Amino acid sequence: MKSIAVYNFKGGVGKTAASVNLAYEGARSGQKTLLWDLDPQGASSFYFRIKPKIKGDAKRLLKKTNKALDQIKATDYENLDLLPADLSYREMDIVLDEMKRSKKRFGPLFEALEEEGYETLLIDCPPGLTLVSENAMIASDLIASPIIPTPLSLRAYDQMTAHAKGLGIKKDRFAPFFSMVDRRKSLHREVVTSFIDAHKALNSVIPYLSSIERMGLSREPVAVSEPRSGAARAYRLLFEEIEQLL
Ligand SMILES: Nc1ncnc2c1ncn2[C@@H]1O[C@H](COP(=O)(O)OP(=O)(O)O)[C@@H](O)[C@H]1O
Ligand SMILES: [Mg+2]
Repeated sequence: MKSIAVYNFKGGVGKTAASVNLAYEGARSGQKTLLWDLDPQGASSFYFRIKPKIKGDAKRLLKKTNKALDQIKATDYENLDLLPADLSYREMDIVLDEMKRSKKRFGPLFEALEEEGYETLLIDCPPGLTLVSENAMIASDLIASPIIPTPLSLRAYDQMTAHAKGLGIKKDRFAPFFSMVDRRKSLHREVVTSFIDAHKALNSVIPYLSSIERMGLSREPVAVSEPRSGAARAYRLLFEEIEQLL
């Protein structure tokens, strides 16, 4: 099973939009795909019209993996399932702290998912520097990281990768890509070009598009609501590029 954590410690940068659309692309390409909505706010679950759990048990989810498998829900789309958000994830940091000694804390869950036949796992991470996101990064094959093309966001990205290095996560496991790019802004154009060259960022760029904003109304991946849109194409190309890294 290939695992991709979609993470940036900044909020509102397009993590959930990317998670939803990349998971859809994985499923559409024929891979049995699971999207794990790890953010207690439950935005990915909302897009797939699946209710988050009000009060689960984060500890059991990580220790008794059959509990996690029980919570998986089918979506409206072939090959695509969702592990919904759970308000108990807010307590997962405490749980993880208690489990400090085990090496890969998400390991047993990942193994159980693989046994269930999942080929691709996308994790929609919450923002912030938390044990939850750190463990998602440690356990995943790749960290797809959306970045808004401004100097401050790039600085934040460097801080994030430096912090990850301290956790033993090498920079080459990060796949940064630009998100919410406004090609009309010369600042965006300049930042994107120079950063892609310098940091080996993905060439695929997600533009700032109203069709992506409208996902909040349609509650569907853009490839479903607006299949011919530039947005649908952008996520398809992003998925193809990420796939080649796995
Ligand atoms: N490329 C984009 N173009 C336009 N709006 C976007 C784009 N990506 C995300 N959005 C919108 O911006 C808001 C934040 O995006 P979201 O994916 O939820 O960010 P995050 O998960 O990083 O907090 C949402 O309302 C979403 O619809
Ligand atoms: Mg989000």
